[in-house]
Amino acid sequence: MDFRNEIAEALSASTNIPTQELSSMLETPPNPEMGDYALPCFKLAKSLKKAPPAIAVQLKSESTFPEFVSRVEVAGGYLNFFIDRSVFVREALAPVLEQGEAFGSSNEGQGRAVCIDYSSINIAKPFHIGHLSSTVIGHALYNIFNFLGYKSIGINHLGDWGTQFGKLIVAFRRWGSKEGIEQGGVRAMLEIYAKFHEEAEKDDTLNDEARAAFKAIEDGDIEALALFDWFRALTLKEVQRVYDLLGIKFDSYAGESFYNDKMQPVVDELREKNLLELDDGASVVRFPEEDNMPPCLILRSDGATLYATRDIAAAFYRKQTYDFDKCLYVVAYQQNLHFKQVFRVIELMGYPWAKDLVHVAFGMVSTTDGTLSTRKGNVVFLEDVLKESIEKTRAIMEEKSPDLEGMDEIAREVGVGALVFSTLSASRIKDIVFDWDRALNFEGETGPYCQYTHARCCSLLARAEYDKEAQVEYSLITDPESVEVARLLYEFPATVQSACKKYEPFIITRYVVDLAQAYNRFYLAHRILGEPREVQNARLALTACAKQVIATGLNLIGIAAPTRM
Ligand code: ARG
Repeated sequence: MDFRNEIAEALSASTNIPTQELSSMLETPPNPEMGDYALPCFKLAKSLKKAPPAIAVQLKSESTFPEFVSRVEVAGGYLNFFIDRSVFVREALAPVLEQGEAFGSSNEGQGRAVCIDYSSINIAKPFHIGHLSSTVIGHALYNIFNFLGYKSIGINHLGDWGTQFGKLIVAFRRWGSKEGIEQGGVRAMLEIYAKFHEEAEKDDTLNDEARAAFKAIEDGDIEALALFDWFRALTLKEVQRVYDLLGIKFDSYAGESFYNDKMQPVVDELREKNLLELDDGASVVRFPEEDNMPPCLILRSDGATLYATRDIAAAFYRKQTYDFDKCLYVVAYQQNLHFKQVFRVIELMGYPWAKDLVHVAFGMVSTTDGTLSTRKGNVVFLEDVLKESIEKTRAIMEEKSPDLEGMDEIAREVGVGALVFSTLSASRIKDIVFDWDRALNFEGETGPYCQYTHARCCSLLARAEYDKEAQVEYSLITDPESVEVARLLYEFPATVQSACKKYEPFIITRYVVDLAQAYNRFYLAHRILGEPREVQNARLALTACAKQVIATGLNLIGIAAPTRM
């Protein structure tokens, strides 16, 4: 039942103001003593030509409100509505009990595809903490869009092109060995790459050699290409371990090199449309004055393409291949200008779908103790960070619940969850400071805390042998703590929609914490087991709903919900 809409309908009948308009005016008061919905009448003062308190009085006496409205109160310029507690609790809980894990989902996105470019790591470079945000935010959005009926397409736009691969080949031929790289992986690649830079300082001919090696890859030289593919495959094998830990899969790994043969048509079209200008031998697209942006470099003077050229070609490819409704780029805000330029170029080419390209930007992650920072020259690999989190979690669990069955798997879910949760615990655009102690605290506003609450619900339901089929007497759970849990459950579908609309998984993270806290307040205030059968059953039903929605919320943001902890 849509309480808001029904109240708006009743008001509309007595005022002739459209329901929609009234519905959007209705507010949720900051505390329950002021009702469940409130109409700020000053917004109507102009059209009804009356003072707000007088409007409130008039509306109250002239409207016939639905039965579920138990009380209507005038408070200054506000008209406050109180909803019958047991009706409200029933309306909030029954859909959760009926729909289970589908509760909150919808088919609003049916038939529409959303491309999500995320993680997008670089070959022969560490998968470092900076990629964590992209990976985690992108994955959450992937789940959220799917949950709302869209078809999500996860794309890992690999950084697998550029002159650095020429350097790497030269370095490998001089100082590398097959076994060394095979065993050492990306770390070993970084080592010989660093060596290259050291040596090239002394001997500039190395740079010429590297250019030639890169040219060889471009020209399809078999040996150079084989090396390049090998570096790529080794890096991907290594990052796969991280994706496995996080439980992430991509639909496409089409990275920068994939577009090698797809850029010419774009360049030709730019030229035909008179958008390409020469600038010191290079080809650029200039923007109108009011855009206030430097030109976008399309071709270097030697004819080489750039990061932006590849992104423009990629956008066309994605549009043709997936016919997306939206194409999201989950990339740090450092690349703001790049995406503004790329999107604008496509717009200038005359494609209206340029407006469907969205840069979902996020801030930086740093740590209180500097362990994740690459600044001190120590490269930090995300895999190590995840493993450390899992180990720390395990240590905590061994102390708290030494007999826990399946500890390894649970420690993994909780350790990874803590890191993911913490990454999603603030609005994405904010820079975040990561703190181990805070992230792993089972009592704070953390992943482990929410997971623990879920596990607590599971164990309670199991102990009580909760009967899903038993009739629920909703009038028995109208105390303030139960109603607060119910209120949150009722808001879950709208919460998911808002997270989707704003590309902001954090909205769900916040919600899950609120729900877990509300449930725990209920749990502390009320006895469940051993109460009269009807009361126990009603409280168990509330528990089952909270459990379900905490799990759904956690899963949406990419976190597992273990049943034991
Ligand atoms: N590989 C890039 C980096 O690590 C991110 C790529 C983002 N996606 C894109 N289509 N440009 O900075």
